[in-house]
Amino acid sequence: MIDSYGRNIDYIRISVTDRCNLRCIYCMPEEGVALADHRDVLSYEEIEKICRILARMGFTKVKLTGGEPLVRKDLKDLVKQLKQIKGLEKITLTSNGVLLKEAIGPLVQAGISGVNVSLDTLSPGVFREITRKDVFGQVMVGLEEALKYPELSLKVNCVPMGIPGQEILKVADLARENCIHVRFIEMMPIGYGKQYRCLTQDEIMNQLTEVYGTMHPVCEPLGNGPACYYKPEKFRGSIGFISAVSHKFCSECNRIRLTSQGFLKTCLQYDTGRDLRRLLREGAAEETLQEEIAKAILEKPREHHFADPEIQEEDGRMMCQIGG
Ligand code: GTP
Ligand code: 5AD
Ligand code: SF4
Repeated sequence: MIDSYGRNIDYIRISVTDRCNLRCIYCMPEEGVALADHRDVLSYEEIEKICRILARMGFTKVKLTGGEPLVRKDLKDLVKQLKQIKGLEKITLTSNGVLLKEAIGPLVQAGISGVNVSLDTLSPGVFREITRKDVFGQVMVGLEEALKYPELSLKVNCVPMGIPGQEILKVADLARENCIHVRFIEMMPIGYGKQYRCLTQDEIMNQLTEVYGTMHPVCEPLGNGPACYYKPEKFRGSIGFISAVSHKFCSECNRIRLTSQGFLKTCLQYDTGRDLRRLLREGAAEETLQEEIAKAILEKPREHHFADPEIQEEDGRMMCQIGG
């Protein structure tokens, strides 16, 4: 569906849970966040119903996120259900990787097309410092397991905090030997993220060029999202950047979000959207739901204003509640 600014909106990011088994310092406090009551979280059937309507409206791509999506039971069943919807071409997952080892086989069998694993460092100590959990080994085992499926598109998300010992070049190196796309994500001033100043895309690009030589822009799209990719000589994978503030990509935005509690959020920064859970549970007809989704998309803001300190995000939702 085309929005009011001529953008083709065909990508939905769905948070299946606000729960997470990590406590990343830029995402939530040590004690975690107040969690939604189970009854307030959309069921797989409700998510499937919304996706069926979206597919009719021309959506082709679904990203499952959290919190941590793999803490929700039987996620593979949702993937299987979504794969049966005509028009949905790609179902992908963004995970912190802690539970990936056991989950990946069944997910691939269910038809998942790609997995993005959040991994900010290859140092177990710095990993503990950032995530407040001692499970670095588990994530690496999960990543290795995922590499056994060559049909899977595999990406690593790294937020370059710039803290001593993070050694982001070692993370970039994962893309040299393996068919993995490593993306550096600029910190967005949402919730706890506001407190940190990370390395910039230009700083990282300079470091990479010094070590690997020319970074050749990759022309074909490697995903549904906003990353732009480069490939140094002899790399099997590539290096991507998602720099929402310094290299704003709103004019090419193709996505909306669904929170785990069923709020359809049309921009990461603003609270514009629709409470689809209320409509679903009041028994609204599919036509009504479709009309409301279409109206929400037409009201989608033109752009975020993260760089403007005067404009704050409108809802108090944290990253783990929105799904990134
Ligand atoms: P693929 O490349 O297709 O896998 O998609 P993706 O890059 O959208 O996936 P992922 O879930 O790994 O998201 C990576 C980062 O991009 C996360 O930090 C998201 O919050 C961020 N991101 C995705 N979409 C948007 C957006 O519309 N606006 C902003 N500001 N950030 C976004
Ligand atoms: N800014 C940028 N990226 C963030 N993530 C979580 N919080 C923020 C933030 N404030 C990242 C996670 C994960 C991805 C889905 O979003 O590290 O890789
Ligand atoms: Fe969990 Fe992702 Fe937040 Fe880390 S950034 S605490 S992995 S939801």
